[in-house]
Amino acid sequence: MSILTAMNRTLLIIKPDAVKRNLIGTILKQIVDAGFRIVGMKMVWLTKERGETFYEIHKGKDFYNWLVDFISSGPIVACCLQFPNAPTKLREVVGATDPKKAAHGTVRNLYGTSVGENVVHASAPDEDPHHEIQFFFMEEELFDHS
Ligand code: RTP
Ligand code: MG
Repeated sequence: MSILTAMNRTLLIIKPDAVKRNLIGTILKQIVDAGFRIVGMKMVWLTKERGETFYEIHKGKDFYNWLVDFISSGPIVACCLQFPNAPTKLREVVGATDPKKAAHGTVRNLYGTSVGENVVHASAPDEDPHHEIQFFFMEEELFDHS
C-alpha cells in the first residue's frame, strides 16, 4: 500500500448506541454524501478484551472502563473510508467529541446523546489511522476504488 493510499484512508466505527437506534443507514448516507467511498465494511461485536485493546490509548483515563464496556455492549459497524486526507476530513464531518459542542449539522451534533454515547468513532489523524484500520481489516478485505 502506498503512502498516498494510507493518507487517504481512515476508520469510522458506528458505535453500539447508533446501531441499537437503527441509525446505520442514516449515518452512512451522511458520510457518503460528504464524498467518502466505503472501501471496507463489517458488523462485529467486540469482546471486552478486544475493546480494551482497541482503546488502549485511553488506558488510565477516568472514562476508560466505561468506554470499554460501551464499545463491547453490542454490535458495531467498522468502515474503512477513502477520500483525500480522509482522517482530517472525517473528523470535520463527525464533529467534536461532545455532541453539545459539535458543529451544527455534524454527525455527533445531529445524533449524539452524550459525550460518551456519541454514535461514532473516527480515527484521529495523529493516532495512526492505518493501525486502527488493521485492527478490523486485512488488506485483502479492502477494495480500492481509485
Ligand atoms: P473517538 O476516538 O471515539 O473518535 O472520539 P474522540 O477522538 O473525539 O474522543 P476521545 O478523546 O478519543 O475519546 C474516545 C471516546 O471516549 C468517550 N469519552 N467519554 N465521559 C467523558 O468525558 C468522555 N470522554 C471521551 C467518547 O465515546 C469518545 O468518543
Ligand atoms: Mg479518539
